[in-house]
Amino acid sequence: MALEGPVPGRHKIVLENRRILLIVSGGIAAVKVPDLIRRLRERGAAVRCVLTESGAQFVTPMSLAALSGDKVFQDLFSLTDESEMGHINLSREADIVLVAPATANIMAKMAYGMADDLATTALLATDKPVMIAPSMNVMMWEHAATQANLATLLDRGIHIVGPGAGDMACGEVGNGRMAEVADIVAALDGFFKSRREHGPLSGQSALVTSGPTHEPIDPVRYIANRSSGKQGHAIAAALADLGAKVTLVSGPTQEPDPAGVTVTAVETAEQMLTACTAAKPFDIAVCAAAVADWRVADSTTSKIKKTGDTPPALSLTENPDILATLAKAGKDRPHLVIGFAAETENVIDNGSAKRNAKNCDWIVANDVSAGFGGDSNTVHLITEDGADSWPTLSKQAVAERLATHIADHINKS
Ligand code: PMT
Repeated sequence: MALEGPVPGRHKIVLENRRILLIVSGGIAAVKVPDLIRRLRERGAAVRCVLTESGAQFVTPMSLAALSGDKVFQDLFSLTDESEMGHINLSREADIVLVAPATANIMAKMAYGMADDLATTALLATDKPVMIAPSMNVMMWEHAATQANLATLLDRGIHIVGPGAGDMACGEVGNGRMAEVADIVAALDGFFKSRREHGPLSGQSALVTSGPTHEPIDPVRYIANRSSGKQGHAIAAALADLGAKVTLVSGPTQEPDPAGVTVTAVETAEQMLTACTAAKPFDIAVCAAAVADWRVADSTTSKIKKTGDTPPALSLTENPDILATLAKAGKDRPHLVIGFAAETENVIDNGSAKRNAKNCDWIVANDVSAGFGGDSNTVHLITEDGADSWPTLSKQAVAERLATHIADHINKS
């Protein structure tokens, strides 16, 4: 089945913003990989390629780089690659690892846990789901060794698409042809869809706040902070991936809307509160936004003129506390209310104090002395059981870990 062009709707939504680590091993079907990359990118997925030495006999790194719009990783011992992106991160900063084509050789290495090049090392180091699109001669596919390796891989939860039957490049006919590009795209789509439908948070609704707020001084000036929205948006995506119905209320950010999440864009703290209240009821609330504590009491509708030598005095008034409002006892209080605490000192103590002061169930306390906006975060999850300090992780990994804790908690209670 050939795809004629972008398919709007279902596929696009499910694959949008998905990060696919595509491992290209050495089979003739590697010539289909450029088309696969094109189709995935048309659907909004980000594709990063690892090319094995034998894969490079069939497709050039240059063509993969041009089509994926990203660097192609080839060498386990490249100092440049390792300093830019260690092989561990390479395998973890993806939503799924796809091996296409997957030769008999790479399947055998995967089954035995070998790690003798970048591709197999990344496969061994990954904590993400893996899908293979086998491609080989029919005799190789039907060989007892390959079938035993396949059974091992399936037993470990590895996903498979294809192979199909038909004419092969070697002149024989039978099973072993790599699945068509459209079928690989559909398999990825089905994987993400099914994870959402059957995830541990399916049936739950969640509200997430993210980003900064902008508090106007006059029509052209505002008070803001440096929150990028990366952490909050990643949490919204992670909760949706586990099946929750997510509403994301976000202040102004450059972050793309997470796939399958309802996004309400706001500017000010007051608008954020209104949007959060309108989204009720929900089972889970995660307040990751850096809401301005104060707004200008008397913001003007016309631009403040620079007159005389004395700068204008700004009089501030307190903003509503969204987290504290959501956490207030009452019949529509969410089952689980989680706040963040942005601290520069005594992170755990100050975080614990905020947990009590705002009546929330958990606080994620993070040290922001290096500022907001980076890609990683060091957090302590503070619950009634105390503080659990996590290692420094990417914001996406923090989000996924938090979402898993939330799912465990909800399913236990
Ligand atoms: O957006 P990034 O660049 O990725 O950065 C992420 C982050 C550092 C902004 C995020 O991890 C974080 O710490 N968010 C909370 C920032 C903050 O405002 O912390 P706080 O300690 O001042 O507030 C405590 C809690 O009360 C937070 O959950 C906050 O959302 C909430 N709050 C605060 C004030 C207010 N008026 N309303 C609120 O809901």
